[in-house]
Amino acid sequence: MENFEKLLTLFFFIIIPNIVQVDANFFKSMHITWGAQHALLQGDDLQLMLDESSGSGAKSKKSFLFGTIETRIKLVPGNSEGIATSYYLSSTGNQRDEIDFEFIGNISGQPYTIHTNIFAHGSGNKEQQFYLWFDPTTDFHNYTIHWNPTEIVFYIDSIPIRVFRNYEYEGIAYPNKQGMRVYISLHKANNWATRGGLVKVDWSEAPFTAKFNHFRARACKWNGEVSFYECASNIPANWWTSSIYKQLSYAQMDQLNWVRSNHMIYDYCHDTQRFNGQMPLECFKGQF
Ligand SMILES: *[C@@H]1O[C@H](CO)[C@@H](O)[C@H](O)[C@H]1NC(C)=O
Ligand SMILES: *[C@@H]1O[C@H](CO)[C@@H](O)[C@H](O)[C@H]1NC(C)=O
Repeated sequence: MENFEKLLTLFFFIIIPNIVQVDANFFKSMHITWGAQHALLQGDDLQLMLDESSGSGAKSKKSFLFGTIETRIKLVPGNSEGIATSYYLSSTGNQRDEIDFEFIGNISGQPYTIHTNIFAHGSGNKEQQFYLWFDPTTDFHNYTIHWNPTEIVFYIDSIPIRVFRNYEYEGIAYPNKQGMRVYISLHKANNWATRGGLVKVDWSEAPFTAKFNHFRARACKWNGEVSFYECASNIPANWWTSSIYKQLSYAQMDQLNWVRSNHMIYDYCHDTQRFNGQMPLECFKGQF
């Protein structure tokens, strides 16, 4: 515990200087990286389209180290079986860090699967999946990834659905040494999501469109070195202090428990068969 506090204090002093503005809307923050004919980026709106010829994707111009990344998403309506919308943070290189939201479509009227995962220093295998408590295709909803030196929190409409705390001092890898960019894409779902390719997209319903707006990165811009980053000026002055030491409030813990009891469909920490009884260390730690 003492070491942990030292670690926090260290982060605290590294982070405080260099306050600059990095927040912006979609158009200022992102650019289209593939499927340009299938994408539309305008002001605070992004639209991605998928048909048999291509999907499309965008990525943030800047790389961030810690922050709160917020996007409102309206997923592909109707028969979206075999289609995935990805919204994630990722570094590059082989010791990859990643914080993933992925939305796997379904036939009309059946629930989307919300897939989450975290990679730290190249190792993932931390999947949790959920069904939503609303129809994500009729309106925009707020999907936020909060990432600071002590914890990662996935929020949907401000309800925390998943927490991953930093237990690095106990030998559990945590993404905190490399910047990550934000990626958003619409594509055919990968093999595992389609039960090994069994599920096929119904192209007669194409093109499929996912819509995004209100992109906000209240985040620290990363300049390529471990302790070299600059934080957005619209982060409230007490943001780092409060969020570094903060855990979820009791009300938020209740919400997290509600999601876990009623809407979680898969938790790697419960999959004893997969890990042959050798559960990952973080599964024995509090995740609030
Ligand atoms: C689609 O809906 C069915 C029935 O509710 C469910 O069992 C299945 O997991 C869903 N598939 C995906 C990919 O979400
Ligand atoms: C989206 O959710 C985040 C996390 O709870 C919150 O900080 C932010 O204010 C929300 N945005 C809007 C527009 O409600």
